[in-house]
Amino acid sequence: MTSNSIGIGMIGCGTVGQGVAQILSQQKTLYTRRLGTELALQRILVRDAKRTQQCSKIDPSIVTTNPDEFFTTPNIGIIIEVAGGRGLISQYVRRALSDGKHVVTANKSLLAAEGSELFSLAHENRVSIAFEASCGGGIPIITALQFGLMANKINAMYGILNGTCNYILTEMTQSGKCYSEALSEAQEHGFAEADPTLDVSGQDAAEKLAILSSLAFGIQATSAHVQSEGIDQLNLTDIKFGSELGYDIKLLAIAERNNKSDDHVSLRVHPCFVHTEIPLAQVHGPFNALSVYGHATGQTLYYGRGAGQMPTASAVVSDVINIASGWYPHAFGELKLWSNDHGKNNWVNPDDLPSRFYLRISARDTPGVVAKVGTILGDAGISVSALLQHEVDADKFVPVVITTHSARQGAMNKALAEIGRLEVINGQPVCIRIVDLPHD
Ligand code: NDP
Ligand code: HSE
Repeated sequence: MTSNSIGIGMIGCGTVGQGVAQILSQQKTLYTRRLGTELALQRILVRDAKRTQQCSKIDPSIVTTNPDEFFTTPNIGIIIEVAGGRGLISQYVRRALSDGKHVVTANKSLLAAEGSELFSLAHENRVSIAFEASCGGGIPIITALQFGLMANKINAMYGILNGTCNYILTEMTQSGKCYSEALSEAQEHGFAEADPTLDVSGQDAAEKLAILSSLAFGIQATSAHVQSEGIDQLNLTDIKFGSELGYDIKLLAIAERNNKSDDHVSLRVHPCFVHTEIPLAQVHGPFNALSVYGHATGQTLYYGRGAGQMPTASAVVSDVINIASGWYPHAFGELKLWSNDHGKNNWVNPDDLPSRFYLRISARDTPGVVAKVGTILGDAGISVSALLQHEVDADKFVPVVITTHSARQGAMNKALAEIGRLEVINGQPVCIRIVDLPHD
């Protein structure tokens, strides 16, 4: 890539794609000065050309709906994929790599499922795949893991990796908004996926965690290896009780090596309470953060806008510049990133995972109820840490909140089933994990 102009093709031109076109046009002079060559967006492939007409930064003559026309455009060396999804888009990415073009993608679904095959294909064709925008929007966390922390054995990562969920939880906590209102707002801001169930089910964060863990632990993880739960069943009542006890609710993505045998790892995404004073509790709205624990660095923290048009476009264009400069393809070719050359993955049994827990039961307001629940917990080896019940008038059932000391997930599941069978309890107990991050 040494000519005076580097040709770029882009697949998709929605929220992120229009941001990319805007940045490339706004900062043309800066990039030409930095690189010594011009970055030229030469062709854009979309399904419906009318939608790109709203964007004044896009020359309509470069937009096509014809894939063959797109792939045969001469002098294109870098293909940006900001369409999302798999299927046809996977075929396009494979075609680009096979044609000897570098690929920049924001598509975590594709990488989390097919990353290892795509990386092999890129290596076979002596080109690179850059994917900073796939995790954490504008935060350079892929670069940190791939390069900045290279000297470290990574022991654990704790992250807020979905901007839509964090926006919803922040609005519910700070403004008392209902879940559906907050979700609609996140969609209006352009944070959510085309199908927002990917966000709220925890799947999007699971895909990002699979990518980050593959890099950090040198394993081949897909989102199927991540135990995930979403935020769609959360209730304002629990968010309020949590606040009263000094906790904020977050959707955390957690990757940990097992304390006892560190070739075993666990990957999980679930809502949890974190103490209001820890840094991750201060991450609000569409912001993301990732806390990475390296054996030599101890804790490092990466924070910034994890979703939205311009932060994500920033990550995409930075990748383009790093490819155009020749630096990234060289590093990609030399380093065994996401390689097939790995040992067997060993997963921690989820029942063995320790956690503290928050429980809310709806209990009949009669003598002996708390004792019955306490006995079930005690018999399961679970120690109660706090108990909270407000005085209410003439209600048959009252919410009783219990927090516990650390216990095995398997023991808690068994206790929950027994508590749910008590006649003095209405419905199933609500159970939310309380996560305490390591100090270093
Ligand atoms: P949008 O839905 O806003 O845009 C998607 C674009 O891709 C549209 O222009 C759509 O065209 C086009 N497209 C979809 N399928 C095809 C196809 N088969 N052929 C050609 N064009 C196609 O999505 P976003 O811009 O929000 O997201 C794009 C990618 O970036 C996704 O992978 C997403 O996960 C990722 N991402 C998004 C972030 C965000 O904050 N929005 C943040 C980080 C990553 P048409 O309009 O004609 O259907
Ligand atoms: N839908 C994603 C989110 C976009 O809300 O975080 C960023 O990957």
